[in-house]
Amino acid sequence: MSERETWTTRVGFIFAAVGSAVGLGNIWSFPFQTGSNGGAAFLLIYLLAVFLIGFPAMMMEFVIGRGSSMNPISAFEKLGYGNWSVAGALGVFTSIVTLAFYSVVGGWVISYIAGSLTGAYFGDAGTFFGAVSAGPTSVLTHALFMAITIGIVAFGIQNGIEKATKVMIPAIIVLLVGLAAWGATLDGAAAGYEYYLSPDFGYLAANFASIVPSAVGQAFFTLSLGFSVMVAYASYLGRDDSLPADGGAIVVVNTLVALLAGFVVFPVLFAIGAEPGSGGLGAAFVSLAGAFGQIPGGSILGFVFFIILLLAALSSSISLLETPTSYVVDNYDYSRKQVATGLGALVWAVGIPTALSTNTLGWYNAVVFNLLLPVVVLLFAVFVGWVASDLSADEIGRGTTLDAGFATTWLWWVRIVIPVAIGLTLVLGIQSLLIRAGVLEAAVILG
Ligand code: TRP
Repeated sequence: MSERETWTTRVGFIFAAVGSAVGLGNIWSFPFQTGSNGGAAFLLIYLLAVFLIGFPAMMMEFVIGRGSSMNPISAFEKLGYGNWSVAGALGVFTSIVTLAFYSVVGGWVISYIAGSLTGAYFGDAGTFFGAVSAGPTSVLTHALFMAITIGIVAFGIQNGIEKATKVMIPAIIVLLVGLAAWGATLDGAAAGYEYYLSPDFGYLAANFASIVPSAVGQAFFTLSLGFSVMVAYASYLGRDDSLPADGGAIVVVNTLVALLAGFVVFPVLFAIGAEPGSGGLGAAFVSLAGAFGQIPGGSILGFVFFIILLLAALSSSISLLETPTSYVVDNYDYSRKQVATGLGALVWAVGIPTALSTNTLGWYNAVVFNLLLPVVVLLFAVFVGWVASDLSADEIGRGTTLDAGFATTWLWWVRIVIPVAIGLTLVLGIQSLLIRAGVLEAAVILG
């Protein structure tokens, strides 16, 4: 067993957690979920979900992580509830499944960076997407993406993850601001902003039941909740840091990055009159890439956009690999390099089917989003709110100047509001899985 590292600075922790949170979820799925769910109507519900459900749920993982200073599986034993290790383990399992297809999408991004330089997707983005998204190219770029991820994780917390994310996050923000400024000069800007920012309440009322679970699922995914990742990261945290302050900073920065991505994507799509949100999983890679091919200066715009996407994807994938790696390194006598490589190879293998078929990738994504993720968050909520509530109340207040009322409110929120919200999400999520499987008729959903 090796000596446990801690973050060199509190800012190092925040950067790494933001790195985990900021990813394909912000720049790829957020704008396209917004696009396919009515624009500003979705944005509104999403923001509520992030702050009312996501933020308090993040505190749950922090409490378990810092309360135990252990990896997510051993954490529960350390706290005296060995049976609950199942919850942590399920989170780690979810990380492995997620990384498997996340890395495939990361591989697509690599192909698009190359394609921006050669102009390969400018004429016909759909054909290009077909060629790089499923098949030998995709298996190869998936391997490349995993290799980079393994390389960073092998260096450990301080030399690998902290150093990498400290460069990546500022780079992502600066580049996105630049692209958004460019977007403002496009012809489609006004129409894009209108769609993005001015909610259609009629649409919202009519589609409430489908918007809510998508927004809650997206909030969890984008904040990396339900994966035990925040448990793992908070376990490296010092005793007297304020969990709500750190969590607040992470949530705010993560939300800003997603909002910025919308300020890039909508003007670009409206500039060429593309339908926002059409095209499912491939959307960013077909409609957006197609738009880059058509607008003046689009090739540079596209290149920068896909570089940002790669940085964001990597800052998340290292965190997804870190969770299982930290568990094995804590418990078995292998070096970090060996473990990162072994697990990385396993993840690569698990992802191969999704590199061969975008339909399979859609399935992995749907199972994670609709089932695994809400189940894990629900288990955490029951544990933190009901099972280990003394410890939770104690731990949330540590290092803060907030009064006891804050801890009590949070605890009741975790006990009641979060489980109810997730219960609802889960029912709707399972329904949508059954529809995907052809077991239920689409019309059954949401009455
Ligand atoms: N939050 C990441 C994103 O928005 C994706 C993600 C989900 C993630 N769960 C995670 C990243 C766990 C790291 C660890 O793209």
